[in-house]
Amino acid sequence: MNILLVGSGGREHALAWKIAQSPLLDRLVCAPGNPGIERLCETRPVAATDVEGLVALAREIAANLVVVGPESALERGLANALALAGIPCFGPSQAAARLETSKAFTKDFCARHGLPTAAYGVFADAGPAGAFLETLDAPYVIKVDGLAAGKGVVIAADLDAARAAVSDMLGGRFGAAGAQVVIEEFMQGEEVSLFALTDGTTARLFGAAQDHKRAFDGDVGPNTGGMGTYAPAPILTPALAQQALDQMILPAVRGMAAEGTPYVGVLYAGLMLTETGPRLVEFNARFGDPECQVLMLRLESDLVPYLLACATGTLSRLPDPVWMDGAAVCVVLAANGYPENPQAGSTIHGAEQDFGADVTVFHAGTARDADGGLTASGGRVLNVCASGDDIRTARDRAYAAVDQIRWPGGFHRRDIGWRAL
Ligand code: AMP
Ligand code: GLY
Repeated sequence: MNILLVGSGGREHALAWKIAQSPLLDRLVCAPGNPGIERLCETRPVAATDVEGLVALAREIAANLVVVGPESALERGLANALALAGIPCFGPSQAAARLETSKAFTKDFCARHGLPTAAYGVFADAGPAGAFLETLDAPYVIKVDGLAAGKGVVIAADLDAARAAVSDMLGGRFGAAGAQVVIEEFMQGEEVSLFALTDGTTARLFGAAQDHKRAFDGDVGPNTGGMGTYAPAPILTPALAQQALDQMILPAVRGMAAEGTPYVGVLYAGLMLTETGPRLVEFNARFGDPECQVLMLRLESDLVPYLLACATGTLSRLPDPVWMDGAAVCVVLAANGYPENPQAGSTIHGAEQDFGADVTVFHAGTARDADGGLTASGGRVLNVCASGDDIRTARDRAYAAVDQIRWPGGFHRRDIGWRAL
């Protein structure tokens, strides 16, 4: 089989690492890839948002499957263009990807299909938004409707801060994505990222992980794309996972099909485990990053048949995936200044040594300098991942590797996994 993988982050490095192990694989090409992915497979400098370029590349390599990593490609309709070209795609159409790309769409969808989630209102004007805020209790949750690179959610402690957030979001800073805001009831609980694969009809749970969204130890500092993960998520018992499947994943898959926009790919449900049960914080139309990294480390089954079955409507023929018994932990190394103002260009030493069979280092925002050395070129730069019999063992292995990487230009959290430990 020939596979085109789209993306350039740690998530895509982990997907490439797992796909490359498949006995079904003839050729793997990644666009645009990164220096870590380059060591595993061919890469081509086609951007994840260049829909025409990606379709042409898929044709050129006679791809039997295109696997889409980031939401930016989905929002631009890559899956639609591939469907027209007759090429199977793991990833939802532009309309189905609205489950991630429009929070207003998703909240209305949840209301139509009875998914448990926070009470909400959608507003294009500050006046009615302010009136709605007055009906809620603090803290207030205010979100930009569209994609905002993780910067579109504000949790405001009081009404003044909430009103300021509404004005800021509607003020044009987010372009079309900020034409509307969603205001939500605040939900209290622990968060879990739950993943399900679907071919539009059948859905299968595909692992869960817990992320650490704040930049610094102790869950303080600005929100980020994620500073570290572990899997499995002990707090998500099999019964809670089943409840989330029955109350969120299956109604979403059925609802999208019933509305004429069947959802294909991985559906990522951000859950809040509240006192009254799991409730949906958000859907994403892709694997989480860095959740994907720990899922791939734990996945024993061949990934490729699952990706292909989603893209070809044959998921019901596959058994549930097999996971290793132990745990996996991922520690994100980020460039100083991340998330606001990451400093690019600093040199990283020791990241490409052999850390042993239990440790895998995935690249995210890295680049090669003229001598072949590694430098930082993004916010989140490296993902140091390890497996072990339990979370503590995996965590200790990951940090032992982190401590051998010399990178004064970067920082990381020292407390990944603290909730589980
Ligand atoms: P989102 O982009 O919608 O996932 O929101 C980013 C983060 O904000 C989530 O991971 C939660 O930590 C927090 N958050 C979002 N919505 C709510 C809510 N209704 N109640 C409590 N926290 C929330
Ligand atoms: N790690 C959270 C996300 O991928 O959205």
